[in-house]
Amino acid sequence: MSANLSLFEAKFEVEALKAQIKHHDKKYYEDNAPSISDAEYDQLRKRLEQLEQQFPELVTSDSPTQKVGGKAQEKFGKVKHKKPMLSLSNAFDFEDVKNFIQKANRYIGEDEEKEIELFCEPKIDGLSFSARYENGVLVQAATRGDGEEGEDVTQNVTTIKSLPKKLTGDFPEILEIRGEIYLSHKEFERINQERQNAGEDLFANPRNAASGSLRQLDVSITESRNLEYFAYGWGEVSELKWSSQSEAFEKFNKYGFVVNNRTKTCKNLNEVENYYNGLYEARPNLNYDIDGLVYKVNSLQMQERLGFISRSPRWAIAHKFPAEQAKTIIKDITIQVGRTGSLTPVAELEPINIGGVIVKRATLHNKDEIDRKDIRV
Ligand code: IVH
Repeated sequence: MSANLSLFEAKFEVEALKAQIKHHDKKYYEDNAPSISDAEYDQLRKRLEQLEQQFPELVTSDSPTQKVGGKAQEKFGKVKHKKPMLSLSNAFDFEDVKNFIQKANRYIGEDEEKEIELFCEPKIDGLSFSARYENGVLVQAATRGDGEEGEDVTQNVTTIKSLPKKLTGDFPEILEIRGEIYLSHKEFERINQERQNAGEDLFANPRNAASGSLRQLDVSITESRNLEYFAYGWGEVSELKWSSQSEAFEKFNKYGFVVNNRTKTCKNLNEVENYYNGLYEARPNLNYDIDGLVYKVNSLQMQERLGFISRSPRWAIAHKFPAEQAKTIIKDITIQVGRTGSLTPVAELEPINIGGVIVKRATLHNKDEIDRKDIRV
């Protein structure tokens, strides 16, 4: 792969990757209209991370690896997060998960093979939010934005019926709850049906629909969309009243928040595998989109010892589901001319929806690939 890449070549590729990722970040976070699948996007990021690891001199502060999410939109007021809203590093198979556990153990000076209790949750494919409560009263809510500063969506969030405006139980004086806002499949279909009837553009997937529904200056539109959420974390808290991730979920529930009920505390990798397989099978029958699972070191004491590396915690990892595959028809093969004059064959496809993204074109790489796979119109 990049084993014998020169610094010059790497720099060239890194620049191209950064530009591509930034372009897709804008489409995803700001326009709510992604043009590539999440799996393709993850591949771009993975390649960039790999090159930056190999050539650390190429890491710049404006690299997408140093940031999360999109820019706050001008039309909403801005909210500076008291604690940054970070991102998760990804695992794509159980080997990656095993590495994650070994690395965590090594970091805190434990035996690599030691079992670590993990709290496992579905990774909800929506948009993250932070809601601030002072003396149990909802005072502000924000989107993640770039992780440091998000959009003020307080009014919009108050339309979410299941989000408490006042907390119950023995809550901390200051509590910032973080979670994921999403649209159920049923509601997504209802909204798209309505848009179709009105001759409007359809939302590509529930995530885009949720994002487009929350970020409305006209709050009555948000209200008509029946958004839902799951609480899964916290930002600023005046007094921590829980000592593990699983206990946090119990408390959140008592305070009045909705938490996902398909979570599980797993003692070892074997249990994690069973959990993964169970959810992978359940996925088509869920009423909301998930794009993987999240594993979090359950003990907060251990989380604290592990801390963070650049923009993600060492105590958590997202285990992504494999990319969705689909079959369609090649209508034509065209030749794309690159900036440097390079020629690439491209398949023009009968448009097909893969995981919420309409795919119309696919690169065929080169003639050898076409011959090898016997690709034809
Ligand atoms: S924990 C410190 N738990 O995935 C990181 N995130 O790249 C805190 N997400 O921005 C995130 N479901 O939008 C966490 N159960 C879950 C999640 C979850 C979905 C999203 C969230 C976050 C992204 C991580």
